[in-house]
Amino acid sequence: MTEMSRFEKWFVNRRGVRPFERLLARLRGEVRFSLPERARVLELGAGNGSFAKLLYETYHPLEVHVTDYDPAQVELARATLARAYPQVPSAFVVERADATRLPYPDASFDLVVAHMMLHHLGDAAAIERGMREIFRVLRPGGRLLYVEAFHKDLVRSALLRSGLALSYHDSRGFRRWAFHFAEIGIAVRAA
Ligand SMILES: C[S@@+](CC[C@H](N)C(=O)[O-])C[C@H]1O[C@@H](n2cnc3c(N)ncnc32)[C@H](O)[C@@H]1O
Repeated sequence: MTEMSRFEKWFVNRRGVRPFERLLARLRGEVRFSLPERARVLELGAGNGSFAKLLYETYHPLEVHVTDYDPAQVELARATLARAYPQVPSAFVVERADATRLPYPDASFDLVVAHMMLHHLGDAAAIERGMREIFRVLRPGGRLLYVEAFHKDLVRSALLRSGLALSYHDSRGFRRWAFHFAEIGIAVRAA
């Protein structure tokens, strides 16, 4: 993994929820993205947990695993949820997980989320490993939702080599916030 710099940590942990709200609005609106009943969701590199919280409140999945490689980020995500709810809903499972060696059985999830985290896996080989793990833990028909601003070609080619198929791809970015060069992708593991 590539460690976040102190600046990155500051940026990622304090930038607020507006970018995530815009992403979800786009998904619900023009993309018409939905989840199956009783969906199981895994967020990788979940940072401070804000996106997982909004995703839960938007789609009401059965389970959301809020994970990160960095134990400090895992604790921050736990604190975000503890602050947000008098009692954290039992759907949330907050735990440490390395995206290149996921501690879950095959075909466990309907959705894997990787928001601005795939480039943190390091080099091309690590991105490939991460993508193979994502493919492995997705159920047939399950999807990867990613937002990425760096190493975009590497990410896309690793994704296709892993066996996932891109079903949605938008490189318009989000001009009104920091990631004007980010792309959104949704990839499916064939049923
Ligand atoms: C740029 S931050 C993005 C955080 C969050 N998704 C967001 O957009 O606010 C990248 C995150 O990926 C995590 N990360 C880096 N390498 C990882 C790995 N191998 N497995 C899981 N998470 C990892 C970092 O600790 C960090 O929290």
